[in-house]
Amino acid sequence: MLRGNRELWAAFLTGVLITGLYAAVVFFTRQIPAAGEFFGHALGIFGFILMLMTEVLYSLRKRSRSARWGRMSSWLQFHIYTGLVGPFIVLLHTSWKFNGLAGATTLLTVIIVVSGFIGRYIYTRIPRTLDGLEIEGSLSEAALRQARRLMALWHTIHIPIGMALFLSAFVHIGAALYYATFLR
Ligand code: HEM
Ligand code: HEM
Repeated sequence: MLRGNRELWAAFLTGVLITGLYAAVVFFTRQIPAAGEFFGHALGIFGFILMLMTEVLYSLRKRSRSARWGRMSSWLQFHIYTGLVGPFIVLLHTSWKFNGLAGATTLLTVIIVVSGFIGRYIYTRIPRTLDGLEIEGSLSEAALRQARRLMALWHTIHIPIGMALFLSAFVHIGAALYYATFLR
């Protein structure tokens, strides 16, 4: 079971710190950090690594039959933390321009975060143990069946959006590095 909103608060506080750092860079350089220059580029890479961790780690732990490290609820909290902080850092990387494929990648990023909040809401409707197992008998049979069906439907939407996002992100990264970095 996910208890409380700790991961949301942690992500919010991290966001405030990163905004402070970004504001300091804007203040001292007197310009918006460009996506292809040192600071903006570093933001893109760091945020993207956090997003990749979000995509991969929780799924690996969930599917690993032998793994016993860490409770599923902690992994999901970490998933949500990196799933919020990563996209936020990437947003600061964009230099507030959203042309072409890079703009579409940003839109997919926003969609997956919004979808994550919806998933979190449905997920927490189903009472679970700290290892994410459903607690039988704690919801009426009909309510449980409905919540399970919603969760399954949500997965069939959320997972393809994630895949489309990473596909377009990899093309953007390849093209941006080729045209904006190596050919400079
Ligand atoms: C999901 C992750 C990412 C998103 C959503 C994203 C989004 C964007 C956006 C919206 C722009 C501005 C495009 C414009 O000028 O209209 C941009 C520029 C750029 N991005 Fe990313 N980015 C991501 C990850 C990365 C990563 C990991 C790298 C590098 C390894 C990178 C390298 C660049 C570069 C070099 C530019 C500047 C291109 C230029 O000056 O024309 N991006 N990105
Ligand atoms: C970069 C952003 C994100 C990506 C790429 C992402 C990707 C994924 C993927 C691939 C899964 C399927 C895991 C599996 O069943 O194997 C998943 C599940 C989930 N995600 Fe995210 N996610 C992101 C952000 C978020 C955010 C911001 C939240 C909450 C606010 C969230 C909440 C959830 C929940 C509740 C589940 C379902 C857990 C389960 O059924 O076991 N995600 N996410």
